[in-house]
Amino acid sequence: MESINIYWKKQNTTQYADRWFEVERPLEPRHQELSKAIELPSDCIDYLEQAFQKNLNRTTGWEVSDPSAGLAGSIYKRGVPLRSTTNAFKPNTDTVEGCYPVEVFSEQSVIEKILKSENTLFFIDQNVYDAWQKLLSKIKSKIIVTVSEKNKSLEFIAELFRNPQVTDNDQWIAIGGGVLTDCVAFAASLKNKKVTLVPTTLLAMVDASVGGKTGVNFPPYGKNQIGSFYFPEKVMVWSGWLSTLDQRNLRGGSNECIKHAVLKGDDQLLKKLNTDWITNDFEGLVKELINIKAEIVNQDPTEKGVRATLNFGHTLAHALESTSQAHSDDYLLHGEAVGLGIIFACMLSEEILQYPKEQTAKISSLMKKSHTLLKAKELSTYLGKKLDDTATSIDLWKLTLHDKKMTSYENGESAWVLLDEQGIPHKTAKNSYVAPVTYQQFDKTWRRFIEALD
Ligand SMILES: NC(=O)c1ccc[n+]([C@@H]2O[C@H](COP(=O)([O-])OP(=O)(O)OC[C@H]3O[C@@H](n4cnc5c(N)ncnc54)[C@H](O)[C@@H]3O)[C@@H](O)[C@H]2O)c1
Ligand SMILES: [Zn+2]
Repeated sequence: MESINIYWKKQNTTQYADRWFEVERPLEPRHQELSKAIELPSDCIDYLEQAFQKNLNRTTGWEVSDPSAGLAGSIYKRGVPLRSTTNAFKPNTDTVEGCYPVEVFSEQSVIEKILKSENTLFFIDQNVYDAWQKLLSKIKSKIIVTVSEKNKSLEFIAELFRNPQVTDNDQWIAIGGGVLTDCVAFAASLKNKKVTLVPTTLLAMVDASVGGKTGVNFPPYGKNQIGSFYFPEKVMVWSGWLSTLDQRNLRGGSNECIKHAVLKGDDQLLKKLNTDWITNDFEGLVKELINIKAEIVNQDPTEKGVRATLNFGHTLAHALESTSQAHSDDYLLHGEAVGLGIIFACMLSEEILQYPKEQTAKISSLMKKSHTLLKAKELSTYLGKKLDDTATSIDLWKLTLHDKKMTSYENGESAWVLLDEQGIPHKTAKNSYVAPVTYQQFDKTWRRFIEALD
């Protein structure tokens, strides 16, 4: 068995505030039932909604007078700087740190052993349970859930909490894909339970279960906007689960692996991620890929700097995903959108920072060979849009803008992780890994991008 240690540190975030916002008590709270169901103070979700409506970012600190608002601020975009205006609420300013192992192994016996854990509650993804019933039915205390990107929400957490079993054990184990591990780890943080993650998709193994980001979506305000940094006791990566995962999800997960290799600028590793790596050299390569993410999150556990680079390819990906989800129930998978987003971000980097064109060609040829890059026709079907319509480019652009209420799309700039001419993540003059991009640059690249998909 191979083991990688991930170190984490949660610090007082007050110094990161670039401005302060005085949070007001909601006049007509609408979500008190939901707040109660999640055992949050009754106005908490209304405070969250207020912050989304005002489009507050992660670096705007909240001045709060009410503990309920303090709690909301601690889960808004995984926590914003907090300052109290009364004695009723005191923000936690202690620094806490720790370390957890990610174990990578091929023996089913290791999984069998953990399934026998006493005083432990298991949360299992319904599809995983169906595919592995013989193995998983022996577990004593379990909650089997149907979860997808569409119900990855506070309502889902409320549903979990309605099950009386959630209070019984202090040790939880989550077995499933990234949607389930993100939700269960967030639920564990709210209830202060210890959680072990057992990812069952490739994407969750190399990405979602590593790094302590937990959370749910808050429609219509976007993906993963509510959550916390909460670190598991352990992550257990068993390759065996992948034998029942469908090809689309395997390919999607492969794109996140490619993203890690691209960020590292490791051409050798990139080459190894060809069609057969999952069957031929899984343990060795998965360890390398997890290590790349671990190195980045160890430097910046709560995403104040370099961790933002892990969002490479995700600005366009999120816009494609939300367009596709609004169009049809058969929507783009996250990993499929990320594959497209990586190529787009490479092309944008060519345009703005002279990222080498041969490098983009290398990555897209690898994706095409392993069928992880969608074709233009497939993308058009998932979006329900003609790719070369100006309206399509404008709509996607609007989704990439930080300020969703911006009336003039042409004046806004959206935020992107780009690669420079050396092929490494670009740092702006303001010392940020997120660079501004204009609509003109976006649109020009979009035209080239859709040509390149065929
Ligand atoms: N926390 C993070 O840092 C982080 C990083 C990347 C992605 N994510 C999140 O991860 C989520 C995507 O995760 P995902 O790609 O694992 O999707 P997923 O959890 O939806 O799983 C994909 C599908 O495969 C099924 N499944 C899972 N394992 C299976 C198995 N072994 N056999 C058969 N079926 C199986 C699931 O039921 C689901 O239908 C997104 O919500 C994304 O935001 C989080
Ligand atoms: Zn991702």
